[in-house]
Amino acid sequence: MISVCLLGASGSIGQQTIDVMLKNPNDFDLRAFSIGRRTRYIKGILKKFPNVKAVCVQDKKSYKYYQNQYTDITFFYGDDGLDNLIKASNAEMVVNALVGFVGLKPSITALENDKILCLANKESLVVGGEIINKLLKEGHGKLYPIDSEHVAIAKCLAVDNQNVDKIIITASGGPFRNLRRDQLENITPEQALAHPNWKMGKKITIDSATMVNKTFEVIEAYYLFGYDFKDIEIKINYNSYVHSIVRYNNGTYRADVGKPDMRVPIKYAIYQGLTDYQTVVTDDLNSIKNTAFGEFDLERFPIVNVANKVMKEKGTMGAIFNASNEEAVKAFLNHQIPFLGIERIINACLKKQKNIKNPSYDDLKKCDLSTRLLVKQMILKGEY
Ligand SMILES: NC(=O)c1ccc[n+]([C@@H]2O[C@H](COP(=O)([O-])OP(=O)(O)OC[C@H]3O[C@@H](n4cnc5c(N)ncnc54)[C@H](OP(=O)(O)O)[C@@H]3O)[C@@H](O)[C@H]2O)c1
Repeated sequence: MISVCLLGASGSIGQQTIDVMLKNPNDFDLRAFSIGRRTRYIKGILKKFPNVKAVCVQDKKSYKYYQNQYTDITFFYGDDGLDNLIKASNAEMVVNALVGFVGLKPSITALENDKILCLANKESLVVGGEIINKLLKEGHGKLYPIDSEHVAIAKCLAVDNQNVDKIIITASGGPFRNLRRDQLENITPEQALAHPNWKMGKKITIDSATMVNKTFEVIEAYYLFGYDFKDIEIKINYNSYVHSIVRYNNGTYRADVGKPDMRVPIKYAIYQGLTDYQTVVTDDLNSIKNTAFGEFDLERFPIVNVANKVMKEKGTMGAIFNASNEEAVKAFLNHQIPFLGIERIINACLKKQKNIKNPSYDDLKKCDLSTRLLVKQMILKGEY
């Protein structure tokens, strides 16, 4: 039985993590959780997990209301509340299912406090990969990713990590895989929110359509497994059944294959890689039943090249990339900028903002705020 603190309990990954824990009540003991604005979830979660002793909400008003309702539970609020929740919960494992930059500080806090960190919040690695890897190298905590691609790669490398030729990250191609680049300009938020294979939170769904999500995944693979941009390839797998692949120097491929269901990688992470799993070995990818592959078109989605820039230049490049994307996605969802405006804003910010090397968390936070401000100014001036 392992004690757990779940951040982002109301979200897509948070709710699926709850599903997995409820199905395995002898293995996981939920002690604390956080919710953003969807506080209506609190009552139900507390009913299902009577050992919860601490909860964090996003705003002070909800904090006051719920603290009065549940006097035997300690409530926290805001960004600092997330850190305090991790410390107060005393849980051995932190599952970080927050979305966006707000997830970085809790990831750092979890590792600094030697927790087992199960990380869905990919922005933590994109922005703070250097800090996170430094903490891990110093022996603080452990990290298990919750992303179907990275869990697939981890499974393949756990079986054989010798003579690796390429790490192949699969991509569904998103909802616009059959459109030409010039047809992408006028895509609406409603069209972009309709992902063909996965049901996820809004922000990652837009990131999947723009391929920012794939770009994030290349950066994640770099920080998690140490492979450079040239060693990582993206391949389209139309039905998302092949979660990712490792190609070896002898020409064979090892892949993790299965129904697209995030509960599988969640399970792999929260059981710390100890679940039963199988990988498939083949010398012909299309021989894997019911799968079809296609080439990823970098000319249609040049944003993926940003991964190379972020991995090479490091410093605050990841923070600039992430903050400009977060703000641009918000503006796109509000119908303020066109679909390809997201990419143009990201590229402009990467050019305009100064890269600070070896940043502390405070440097990353400052860069996050100044980049958001820059995006807001660009949108006001119509520069997108
Ligand atoms: N969904 C997937 O299938 C999937 C797959 C792989 C990786 N991921 C990654 O997993 C992370 C979560 O994705 P998701 O799809 O689960 O997102 P989501 O459904 O939008 O959930 C995000 C969670 O974070 C909370 N939150 C957001 N902003 C917050 C803030 N400022 N303070 C406190 N809490 C805040 C939300 O609270 P409220 O909703 O209550 O406001 C919610 O609980 C992302 O980094 C995503 O890239 C997701």
